[in-house]
Amino acid sequence: MKFLRLLIILFVLPIYAQQGGMWVPSLLKGMNETEMKNLGMKISAEDIYSVNHSSLKDAVPHFDGGCTAEVISPKGLILTNHHCGFDNIQSHSSVEHDYLTDGFWAYKMEDELPNKDLFVTFIIRIDDVTNKVLEGVANLPSETEKQKKIQENIAMLNKNLPKETWQENSIRTFYDGNQYLLFVTETYKDVRLVGAPPSSIGKFGSDTDNWVWPRHTGDFSLFRIYAGKDNRPAEYSKDNIPYTPKHFFPVSIKGVKENDFTMVMGYPGRTQEYLPSYAVEQIVNSLNPAKIEIRDRALKTQDGFMRKDNAIKIQYAAKYAQVANYWKKWIGESKGLKKTNAVANKQQFEKDFTSKVEKAGKQAEYGNVLADFKTTYNAIAPYALARDYFSEVVLRNTEILSFGYKLYQLEQVYNTKGEQAFKDRKANLIAGFEPLYKDFNAKVDEKVFEQLIELYSKKSPQQFLPESIKNINPEATAKSIFTNSKLTSYDGLKGLLEGDVKSVIAKMNQDPGFALVKTIADAYNKNVAPKYDELNLKNIALQRTYMKAILELSPKSARIFPDANSTLRVTYGKVKGYKPSDAVSYEPMTYLDGVMEKHIPGDYEFNVPQKLIDLYNAKDYGQYADKNGKMPVAFIATNHTTGGNSGSPALDANGNLIGLNFDRVWEGTMSDIQYDPSICRNIMVDMRYVLFVIDKYAGAKNLIEEMKLVTPTTKKKK
Ligand code: ARG
Ligand code: ASP
Repeated sequence: MKFLRLLIILFVLPIYAQQGGMWVPSLLKGMNETEMKNLGMKISAEDIYSVNHSSLKDAVPHFDGGCTAEVISPKGLILTNHHCGFDNIQSHSSVEHDYLTDGFWAYKMEDELPNKDLFVTFIIRIDDVTNKVLEGVANLPSETEKQKKIQENIAMLNKNLPKETWQENSIRTFYDGNQYLLFVTETYKDVRLVGAPPSSIGKFGSDTDNWVWPRHTGDFSLFRIYAGKDNRPAEYSKDNIPYTPKHFFPVSIKGVKENDFTMVMGYPGRTQEYLPSYAVEQIVNSLNPAKIEIRDRALKTQDGFMRKDNAIKIQYAAKYAQVANYWKKWIGESKGLKKTNAVANKQQFEKDFTSKVEKAGKQAEYGNVLADFKTTYNAIAPYALARDYFSEVVLRNTEILSFGYKLYQLEQVYNTKGEQAFKDRKANLIAGFEPLYKDFNAKVDEKVFEQLIELYSKKSPQQFLPESIKNINPEATAKSIFTNSKLTSYDGLKGLLEGDVKSVIAKMNQDPGFALVKTIADAYNKNVAPKYDELNLKNIALQRTYMKAILELSPKSARIFPDANSTLRVTYGKVKGYKPSDAVSYEPMTYLDGVMEKHIPGDYEFNVPQKLIDLYNAKDYGQYADKNGKMPVAFIATNHTTGGNSGSPALDANGNLIGLNFDRVWEGTMSDIQYDPSICRNIMVDMRYVLFVIDKYAGAKNLIEEMKLVTPTTKKKK
């Protein structure tokens, strides 16, 4: 007994304490495979990634370059999130067919809807090409020249490394420039909409519940990949055939429980786990608070209008959700970083790092890196802050300024590239502006402008601002610009852009909205951008050296994963609840009962469709209820995920699909900078809920029939 306890303390605890990490699927053999098996996995690393036979990776495409999807039938049916398919669902919607509100289901393949520009990308093979990429780089005298040479090498290798004609090569950096991997990929461009629940299921809880546990969202949608007759990628044609995958996931309805093994495969976008303490300190104390305050003001202003006017509500809903998404994430991230003492943890890590450098006698190579980081981060601080103010206020959250900035760039195109480039850009702009103005309301934006220009003038580092901006009167300026600028309407904008180059430039420069943007942008481009770029390049070089040292000086057993970079990764852990704060503790599973508890009739976030209420009252759950007759909705686990993992398959110990990843818990959003196993959780829809909605709510039995279900009575094949 004692021996057993000792074993548990020695092996199980350290493994659990160190959970986290997003790993390259071709490099799992060894430490990861052992750890995964210790956590309960029954399959092998070779089952997950293989070049010789089909493996799990063949069922996990990148969806539209931003999300993840998984193949769930032999006929190319794929599953992703509702919020990942949102634009495509919306683009097929009209007043008569409002698929966002009512949902959409294809009961026959002929009814599936093609989507212009939607694509999915599969990974065929991953190869290490570090030596080839770094050839001739080491001895170059400056960082700028090194970067240039690396880019040249990559372009040359992408072109020349062997691949089939229908495939693409794409080389990506790992460990901040210490490793380069080649991805050979295949991209399918005929991807059709198959099914989507109504938003009252697929987006249930909307912004209020976003990043929050307990969660009750059925965040899924279904598509199908079509291929040419040879099963290879082909442009859209009605003669294309459903794609036959190398692998598809069986869907398990056996259910999950606390402590079950889970793994998630997908395309996490960006993490920064190896920043020095100086950088984290800057994020927590300076950059995040500034961005949060700016968005806070913009969102509050828009919300005031949206609540009073339904037309504005529709115009601003998608924009609002996007801005609110990261606003809320940063608040959670800052809280989490503070609560878990991330800066102090980093400082401790740096102390240990320094003594390791000394012990290894590597002072010459690595002895200065932390001191140099300190100098550079101190120097970059005001520039980084000014950059965030500029991008959040001008480029992102004040529409009239962002419109003006596009015209400012147009003038620059003329100055640097001449008349033809100007004409091309102008034509693109006129087309591109149309949808932006469709969702633009000058009354709303005037108030946002007033709020944000005030913040800009008072809080963006003063030493870089022109006098006229420092002394601006927000209210009077807002009034005068929104009365006199042509940028407040699409017709006005088209008027500005009418005529030959000379007259367009002259008209733009007389416009007070354009003139204001020009004053702000000129100052930014002169006083901030060049210095920021110079210091940032230094940080990039330092980060590469720091990462190299960390890799070199850590013990073989250390779990050092490369930061996310939108390439395929595997993360694993266990189904687990958590304790967000004193006396509060969360269970790992939610049920349909919780949907009914949250129901607010008629509310745009928490309305529940009548049919779902009826199914609930009748307990008509078919084979999808759990052992106690309850309908599961979502669950959480310790998988380390980030933006881009949306739509990722959550798999059980046998590689069967049990959930669909779509979010993280609010207290754990700091996992992008530091993963903490006590509060970082990913949120998944339970596949039983997905199937229940498809089968019982939508009656799309055709889709259930093409899947392979693993039920409690399914025989294990030997
Ligand atoms: N937080 C999730 C992610 O980062 C879901 C976002 C979509 N939902 C929303 N209300 N904006 O993508
Ligand atoms: N919701 C995110 C996504 O869309 C996932 C996350 O950030 O956890 O990719």
